[in-house]
Amino acid sequence: MLKIFYLSFTIVLFTALVYSGCSEIEDNLVTAPEIGTHPPGFADSNSPEFHGKYINDNKLWNLKTCQSCHGNDYAGGSSGSSCLTCHSASGGPQNCRLCHGGVSGKSHPPKALNGETSISYVGVGVHTYHIDSTKYSAPVACGECHTTLTGGFSDPNHIGDMPDGTAEINFGPIAKTVTTFKGGGVFPDPVWDRNTATCSNSYCHGNFRDGNSEAVPVWTDRNSVKCGSCHGDPVTGNPNPIPNGNFFHPHYPSYTIGVCYQCHGSVIDQSGSIINKLKHVNGVVDYN
Ligand code: HEC
Ligand code: HEC
Ligand code: HEC
Ligand code: HEC
Ligand code: HEC
Ligand code: HEC
Repeated sequence: MLKIFYLSFTIVLFTALVYSGCSEIEDNLVTAPEIGTHPPGFADSNSPEFHGKYINDNKLWNLKTCQSCHGNDYAGGSSGSSCLTCHSASGGPQNCRLCHGGVSGKSHPPKALNGETSISYVGVGVHTYHIDSTKYSAPVACGECHTTLTGGFSDPNHIGDMPDGTAEINFGPIAKTVTTFKGGGVFPDPVWDRNTATCSNSYCHGNFRDGNSEAVPVWTDRNSVKCGSCHGDPVTGNPNPIPNGNFFHPHYPSYTIGVCYQCHGSVIDQSGSIINKLKHVNGVVDYN
């Protein structure tokens, strides 16, 4: 059945192209109403032939194939069959929570494209702990790790003509923050390694003056980052900066988390709690 669908679709497309060029595909389909019948379970989410599964299996996420018959606005087009009767949320089938996200009304994973919700899956990872429930910093914008999609769903940096189902990582300004000091500077060139699901050389996780420049957080392991991972002692968790194992003025070996507030009072309090997440990991050292 799928084969028939494919075959007939290809023939229609070919014919349309031969006769009139791409822009008029829809007009030609109007005159070919017998084409485009889907397998019986196509509208049934319990069927192995369900269109959601079909779209994923065939990487048809840019929905251009569907639009060729159902209209650019999904209201039916030449097929006369609207997507919007079921996909009634804003944007119809382009709704940001349909293919990924969707948990608690968010557009980012979980869930991933394949439906996974576990942190240990690379497509899910610790999105939640960078965006919804941050411990150390302000929520991190999508554009700090992915190219900002100014054009929304149809932005060429979103899905594109040949989607592979893997999101591109493209770091924004914070991860590349340069720290300069007398006699030198640190110029982070952050790297995402999908095989190890790790992020290295980023300003955010330690590649700054007196930070733990070798720190390599694991995207799929929430516990790979704690107080002391990005600066200080990653073993004990004391955040007092010890670059190369040496303490530099104004930080002395005796410092514990309880003294930081004396000079960084806008960020941290006497009990060692971060009181203003907007000023921590924001690219600026705040001190009084
Ligand atoms: C070649 C034209 C054509 C293409 C391409 C096409 N469809 Fe359809 N589709 C139709 C026609 C015609 C109907 C109505 C007749 C039918 O149900 O077979 C329909 C019906 C449907 C229905 C059933 C609607 C209902 O209310 O039961 C769904 C779901 C659907 N299409 C989804 C899709 C999706 C998703 C895509 C893209 C992957 C797609 N279609 C691509 C022509 C097409
Ligand atoms: C009969 C109702 C119905 C119609 C008509 C319908 N859909 Fe769906 N569609 C669903 C349901 C139900 C889901 C599963 C929703 C979910 O997982 O939250 C779904 C899922 C999807 C998904 C998500 C795929 C994924 O990643 O899992 C896409 C994309 C989609 N539909 C596109 C379309 C398009 C395009 C059309 C019109 C051509 C269409 N649908 C018509 C009911 C429908
Ligand atoms: C029809 C399915 C679908 C819908 C709807 C959808 N996306 Fe996506 N999205 C994808 C796919 C597939 C990828 C992976 C990109 C690839 O394969 O190159 C992706 C990736 C992303 C990424 C990661 C960066 C990238 O571009 O690779 C962001 C951010 C994103 N989507 C935001 C959105 C927003 C915002 C919306 C709503 C305007 C949205 N998505 C709606 C399928 C969808
Ligand atoms: C701290 C960095 C970071 C932030 C912030 C971030 N992402 Fe991601 N995102 C990632 C990583 C890493 C991956 C996995 C990339 C891979 O598979 O190679 C990913 C993957 C994705 C995927 C693909 C999921 C899949 O199934 O493979 C989508 C969609 C996505 N992100 C959307 C978003 C959206 C939307 C936002 C903002 C609300 C966002 N991301 C914010 C790092 C981030
Ligand atoms: C006596 C004052 C003082 C105390 C106490 C102090 N700091 Fe600092 N800290 C500074 C100053 C001043 C700078 C900025 C140095 C500069 O920009 O030249 C700084 C910079 C930093 C930086 C940025 C890296 C660097 O070395 O420039 C970090 C991280 C930091 N402090 C963490 C801490 C933590 C954690 C504590 C508590 C364990 C702490 N500081 C206690 C004064 C202090
Ligand atoms: C994800 C990496 C990361 C973790 C984890 C982290 N820090 Fe930081 N911290 C930074 C960065 C980056 C800076 C440099 C200044 C900035 O951008 O805010 C910094 C700076 C500071 C400062 C100096 C004031 C300022 O400008 O923010 C204090 C104090 C501090 N951290 C305390 C802590 C404490 C306490 C913890 C654990 C509860 C902690 N940090 C965990 C990344 C981290």
